[in-house]
Amino acid sequence: MIHVHHSQRGEPIFHLKSGDSSYVLSVFHGYLLHLYCGAQVSDDDLEYLLVQIPHDSVVPRPSHTYEENKWFSCDAATFEYPANGCGDFRPSAIAVKMMEAHGNSSAFAGTTATDLRYVSYEIVNGKPQVDKQPAVYASDEEAQTLIITCEDPATKLTVKLYYTAFRDFSAICRRTVIENSCKEQLPLDILRAYSASVDFTSIEPQPQLLHLWGTWARERHVERTPLAHGTVSVSSKRGASSHYHNPFAALVTEETTETHGMAVGLSLIYSGNFEISADTDPYGTVRLMAGINPSDFTWRLEPGESFVTPEAVLVFSDEGLGKMSRTFHKLYRSHLCRGEWRDKTRPVLVNNWEATYFDFDDEKILSIAKEAADCGIEMFVLDDGWFGQRNSDKSSLGDWFVNEDKIRCGMKKLVEQINALGLKFGLWFEPEMVSPVSELYKAHPDWCLHIEGREKSIARDQYVLDMTRQDVRDYLFERMSAILSSANIEYVKWDFNRNLTEVGSGWLPAERRQETFHRFVLGTYELLDRLTTAFPQILLEGCSSGGGRYDPAMLYYSPQYWTSDDTDAMERVDIQLGTSMVYPASSMSCHVSACPNHQTGRMTSFRTRGHVAMGGAFGYELDLTALSDEEKELIRQQVDEYHRYYNVINRGDLYRLIMPNDTYNGKQGKCAAWMYVSEDKSEALLTFVVMRTSVKPVYFLKLQGLDPMAQYRDEESGRIYHGDTLMKAGLNLTRRYTDGDSMVVHLKKV
Ligand code: DGJ
Repeated sequence: MIHVHHSQRGEPIFHLKSGDSSYVLSVFHGYLLHLYCGAQVSDDDLEYLLVQIPHDSVVPRPSHTYEENKWFSCDAATFEYPANGCGDFRPSAIAVKMMEAHGNSSAFAGTTATDLRYVSYEIVNGKPQVDKQPAVYASDEEAQTLIITCEDPATKLTVKLYYTAFRDFSAICRRTVIENSCKEQLPLDILRAYSASVDFTSIEPQPQLLHLWGTWARERHVERTPLAHGTVSVSSKRGASSHYHNPFAALVTEETTETHGMAVGLSLIYSGNFEISADTDPYGTVRLMAGINPSDFTWRLEPGESFVTPEAVLVFSDEGLGKMSRTFHKLYRSHLCRGEWRDKTRPVLVNNWEATYFDFDDEKILSIAKEAADCGIEMFVLDDGWFGQRNSDKSSLGDWFVNEDKIRCGMKKLVEQINALGLKFGLWFEPEMVSPVSELYKAHPDWCLHIEGREKSIARDQYVLDMTRQDVRDYLFERMSAILSSANIEYVKWDFNRNLTEVGSGWLPAERRQETFHRFVLGTYELLDRLTTAFPQILLEGCSSGGGRYDPAMLYYSPQYWTSDDTDAMERVDIQLGTSMVYPASSMSCHVSACPNHQTGRMTSFRTRGHVAMGGAFGYELDLTALSDEEKELIRQQVDEYHRYYNVINRGDLYRLIMPNDTYNGKQGKCAAWMYVSEDKSEALLTFVVMRTSVKPVYFLKLQGLDPMAQYRDEESGRIYHGDTLMKAGLNLTRRYTDGDSMVVHLKKV
């Protein structure tokens, strides 16, 4: 997978063949430069691709190349990990400030110039676990990792760049380790430490950055922004990856579609403040970078210490966005998600949040559970409100003790009764939060994030616990473990309902307070790790006011995530298709809820709500005791259908046929269509949703991903089609639709 050659100057060229892609870098005049990434190429000597141009006199050039190579300048070179202040004026991936140690003065102290030069490389089979942060994993047969060591010749700072190439995935995983090996034994402050940076030359035609924007209840909508000279970026400073921007962007061109053109996806495995940026220089080189947001971040590194960045994942496709997404789906489903539930079939659940909100007791819960059992549902999830004095969102976060005024029979008995109905039982927590009105806050007012002497912002009547503190994490572990061991709890919904403000940690010395945001994320990972290790049988579902922390790092601990608090089926089409740019169906938790919808007030048929919710980990979120017999019969049918479709949806390949914003066949209202195809192409499931109909619409849907030589039977009508005909001429779905109609077509190879 990784081949090493030498250039005419005798410097190494590294060719990483990953899946059907190539990623090539080389050493030139001692610098580590990027040569190519994209569809696999056979040529190994790609040094001719280097950007070397005659320079204006204003552009400084390195002294050691000045006479020998008049065309080389750091300001146009395509760096693999661009440093700061030594001739490359574009955004840098790294910036460090050398500090002064007591009684040890240095000419470097207080300066931020860094100059990285290649020193050596090593290739190892597999993918070494660099530290405990979430990362993709792979066996020795599945991957190879190139580790390149660079050094600042002046200070002797060491930077190690990790690149993993895969046998089966067109992807490269990158992360960076910064070591304070500086010769003068000075501490240093890391001001920027990106996970990855790639300089792309000549992206034609017009390059664009595709990214996922959103807000609460409107997460991950696809947007394409044309790149212009200067920087386009998406980021978070909220302490969570956030509803507003996802830690993902793709470099595409204006011609990239679902099926054609280049798409390079960059996804950051991180749950905190991040930045992904694309900077276009005057020569058309696009520098794509991803990493921890340098805003509100510094990290003190004492002599001998190292800093490991989060991992960034690059995925290449020369067949449009669809192929890029399918690579992310497979990689994340099988090499990022972990634990028993990675591959196990997930239960169909009912959650009581939209059914009862805080207004429930054990009898109400049992009455919903009885109906659930009668409808074939497999798990009951008790959401917010079971602990402390939590009868509204105004109190009790942190008081993780069962409220026996509501759960009068006690948790153990309640779970036993639910289990006796044949249902599993799951429970909601919001570990990182504390209500000012709580026993926990009374006992430990200093445990929340705050800056002494500064007013605290409040959101949903809650503060955020300081997850950088070991005592806070120990308390949460002890309380959650006690509850989880007290009854047969087989699922946990881990919520996180506000962003971080007044971020400072009293226990950290002043020079380390800017580490708090990142330490908070590491603290959350540590707690997640302890709990998932102690309770490996529990299915963990992530949540953050819906999908406000739906990122790859969370999937490392929780194989499914509550996609959005917006359960309206029409809204969910956009949200789920946007989410599917990166995240697999098996990770998207999707529920059928009541109508009029609680978020939008819209009425949609039960059938359509079911069809849309079957786009992921399926469940219900409504009061089953308030449904008609006809609706309950529909639930039985939907649960049965979902079982039949489970494999193709959750383990198959996704093809997005019509995105909601596409203009389909001229102008025929607003519709969307997607399909899943099993890996062996023996089965496919098409979902078609008409959000807004028009007069006499004509729909021929050209399917994708089928075996062109095979014949497929429509399981409902029994009609047989040829695979190639379905893909070339399409499936005729012309009929009369009303707003919000949907249909599902299940095809099986004959
Ligand atoms: C926000 C979540 O997204 C909801 O599903 C629900 O769990 C509430 N929090 C409970 O407070």
